[in-house]
Amino acid sequence: MQTLFLDASRPEDIQTAGAILSSGGLVAIPTETVYGLAANALDPAAVEKIFAAKGRPHDNPLIVHICALEQWAPLVTQLPPAALRLAEAFWPGPLTVILPRSERVPAATSAGLPTVSVRFPAHPAAQAVIRAAGTPLAAPSANPSGRPSPTRFAHVRADLTGKVDALLDGGDCGVGVESTVLSLVGPVPRVLRPGGVTLEQLRAVLGDVELDPAVEAPLAPGTAPASPGMKYRHYAPRAPVTLVDASPADYAAYVNRQPGVRALCFTEDLPLLTVPAVSYGGRYRPEEQARGLFAALYRLDEAGEAPILAHLPAKRGVGLAVFNRILRTAGFSVKNPTGRLLVGLTGPSGAGKSTLAAAWARSGWQVVDCDALTRRPEVYDADCVARLMAAFGADIAPNGVLDRRLLAQRAFAAPEPKRLLESIVFPKILAALDRELERAFAAGADLVALDAPTLFESGLDARCARVVVVTAPEADRLARICARDGLSEAEARRRLAAQPPESFYRDRADAVLENGPGDDLAAQGLAFAAVLRRELEARR
Ligand code: TXA
Ligand code: MG
Repeated sequence: MQTLFLDASRPEDIQTAGAILSSGGLVAIPTETVYGLAANALDPAAVEKIFAAKGRPHDNPLIVHICALEQWAPLVTQLPPAALRLAEAFWPGPLTVILPRSERVPAATSAGLPTVSVRFPAHPAAQAVIRAAGTPLAAPSANPSGRPSPTRFAHVRADLTGKVDALLDGGDCGVGVESTVLSLVGPVPRVLRPGGVTLEQLRAVLGDVELDPAVEAPLAPGTAPASPGMKYRHYAPRAPVTLVDASPADYAAYVNRQPGVRALCFTEDLPLLTVPAVSYGGRYRPEEQARGLFAALYRLDEAGEAPILAHLPAKRGVGLAVFNRILRTAGFSVKNPTGRLLVGLTGPSGAGKSTLAAAWARSGWQVVDCDALTRRPEVYDADCVARLMAAFGADIAPNGVLDRRLLAQRAFAAPEPKRLLESIVFPKILAALDRELERAFAAGADLVALDAPTLFESGLDARCARVVVVTAPEADRLARICARDGLSEAEARRRLAAQPPESFYRDRADAVLENGPGDDLAAQGLAFAAVLRRELEARR
């Protein structure tokens, strides 16, 4: 088949795409999530061509794309208030809503299901093509069935040239993972596939929203998936992929020991790795990971067939969608190479870290208090004192005994001496920490928490497989600091102002535990601990 190459920035090309679609043809189009392979959603013969071009199983329904709210009502038999609230909050955008299907939608579009999924994409070219076609468009992701979804035009061209009527070049896709698929058919709204709109955002609008169990775990044999697309091996490159659940330090150490492997990793892992590696985004940047994941899989595919060891992403925000995709890429195989989890515990002063640490310690965890570690005499050994004297003056240690107040006066006077102090003392603290951890592991501990107020600033987060942030409203933190440390409110405010803003901690957390009035911090901490225990047992 002759395939036309069209450019989304040219109005006449949009009209050409529309004309092909309204006469029953197939066109690959850009959307804000991934490229879609579009056909007239109301024409069973056109829809059938999608299944053929993708090699898509016939029991996997398609999403119907609209470019105006009025197009929705004719496709469904009911439009409940929750649906309209969702449209108001998230459309146009990466959310797909499932409702009972009307007679207008051919059974073939929904693979025979009594429901239909509808989405109003935000991409201007997608909207313009739907308008030009004059009909809602069915559009699955534009990959051959089972392969990674294309987020770059070059990937669409490589996969579909010769198989469809036209390809519309709209550049790179901004979100990078597909839309969130939400069913409004059951008693409680349920996410069947996480995507560009997060669970947190949906709950803020709808209240109770469930997560389908198939999002995070393989279906039990014999169970029917709520979303048929969930049962196929998916998003897979040609090489086998295994997910590795480990801190950056442990991930790199493990991967570097495996012969003939490649890494699909975070940007921060790159300098630690000695094997060929492709990054899919920063460790704490789920949006970047979403944008980068499928393109990284294509790159790995082009570069060979050696096994891929992928670094497990955090599930927060759009990270849940990244996790869901990469888990399928790996056929659900996740390995924890150390058999233990080191959990960093941090957050702003007065939030309640010690309360949580105490709750974990009571439930049998080892907790390492990093503040106490920095004051241990073993940190200030003869070598350390000699270096400090060379850097800050011999008089900071009269007769070899460190005068900590004088050292603090000199070191904390400005950023430069503070960095110098840290460069001398941090390696000693890390060595003390390593000895402490060795003792804990030798005693059989497998869940260990590092209570570290400056977890990120000190780089200790690179040792941790998870980061838990405890936070509380600022007023509560101020009150706690004043009461605990006998500070005035102004002094407490100054201390908080010297720390990073709350968002700094939230943006880096696997879990954020709230400790405001009415919150049960210990209960949240123990629930999270139970999840970690299950993950640890399942991934040994
Ligand atoms: O972002 C997206 O949603 C992209 C772009 C092109 O819009 N489209 C996309 O379509 O990802 P597709 O076909 O690759 O994925 C649709 C998913 C499948 O898992 C399918 O099983 C599920 O949505 N789905 C569609 N209609 C459904 C329905 N009526 N009931 C349950 N699941 C449905
Ligand atoms: Mg797909």
